[in-house]
Amino acid sequence: MIQFKCVFCGRRHPADPMAQSCPECSEPMLVDLPADGRSIRQGDTPLARYLDFLPFPEVDDALHMGEGDTPLLPLNRLREKFRLPPVLAKNEMVNPTASFKDRGTVAALHVAKARGLRRIGTVSTGNMAASTAAYGARAGMETFVLVKEDTTEEKLLSTAVHGARLIKVTGDYGELGRQSFALGKKHGIYFMNSVDPFRVEGYKVTGFEIFETLRPRGSWCIIVPVSSGGHLIGLMKAFIEFKEHGLCPEVPTFFGIQAEGCSPIAQAFASGRLRYARVGSHATVAQSIANPSPPGGNIALKMIRELGGEILAVTDEEILSAQRLLAEEEGLFCLPASATTLAGMLKLEGQGRLASGESVVLVLTGSGLKNIRALPPQPSRVFTSALPDLDRLIASLS
Ligand SMILES: Cc1ncc(COP(=O)(O)O)c(C=O)c1O
Ligand SMILES: [Zn+2]
Repeated sequence: MIQFKCVFCGRRHPADPMAQSCPECSEPMLVDLPADGRSIRQGDTPLARYLDFLPFPEVDDALHMGEGDTPLLPLNRLREKFRLPPVLAKNEMVNPTASFKDRGTVAALHVAKARGLRRIGTVSTGNMAASTAAYGARAGMETFVLVKEDTTEEKLLSTAVHGARLIKVTGDYGELGRQSFALGKKHGIYFMNSVDPFRVEGYKVTGFEIFETLRPRGSWCIIVPVSSGGHLIGLMKAFIEFKEHGLCPEVPTFFGIQAEGCSPIAQAFASGRLRYARVGSHATVAQSIANPSPPGGNIALKMIRELGGEILAVTDEEILSAQRLLAEEEGLFCLPASATTLAGMLKLEGQGRLASGESVVLVLTGSGLKNIRALPPQPSRVFTSALPDLDRLIASLS
């Protein structure tokens, strides 16, 4: 039977979507799969192949929108330019709503449908809102999306278009996340937020795919952006479980990257603290990873320490430069949040922390098209010409 387990006190509780945090520690719990024989199956979709490692008994094809099986792309031009070790990008931008969130949303929706729940919800600043609204529409659910008051118009519209009940909430965002669960209980809404235990299970699939595509020999590492911590936790859990079942020899080294302007987990890591302290500021260009009180922060800290990884921060300048490099050198236009991975890699490389033969995987979590406003103005790159002058202009630009 599937249960939830608290990473801190080790206690197990029934796997109830409406009761996700440990009653003793008040921390989110994770899914605890019984350790009996699990294997990789044949199947057309990632959920079908890794079903033995997922918290639902069968795949519901009606929910599938093409999430997963995203490409792992070698970044050869960047590798050459900076004399880097072999570096690859797991391109999560090609998921149905253009971010990795779809992987978690589809997993949580499987659980919701299997349990006959009809109302779902999420608390998000953008990417998870659009993902939950889209999958909620496909599943025929009544979907409630609670967003921050200052959420941009493009994010509001790409969520509202799916017919979700979209509510801008004023007040403390971290508190909203916590209170959503009580409201959910009262109104019969299953809030699948960023560290929802079932959502986290969906993120494991990315890790399984990376491993099976790369089949790494020797040491390697994975670099991911970190906000609430849910995604990083899911990726680490994937390798812990694969190793337990003899499907991978070692867990790779994980590096989680935060934006310096809002980096409570990286600060705790750097100062050796076991728990993060909430930060006041959340001023960064990487708006989608700016969470001053990340619900999975303490779990992420504990797990990454036990695995020998690290959580570090990069500056906005480093982030924007990395975003531009990925777009110009590799054709990959990702969100500033996702570009933190390349910024982090360049930082680690500069510190001599990456071995030359080591493969490095950057998880590019979301498309840059979701927030073009984050781009600095590009006047020097946009030309205007009257038709008769076009010939001359092209010649001058060649
Ligand atoms: C584009 C993008 N990357 C990374 C993250 C970080 O994921 P998590 O909150 O699970 O740590 C987010 C979270 O919203 C995101 O939107
Ligand atoms: Zn506990």
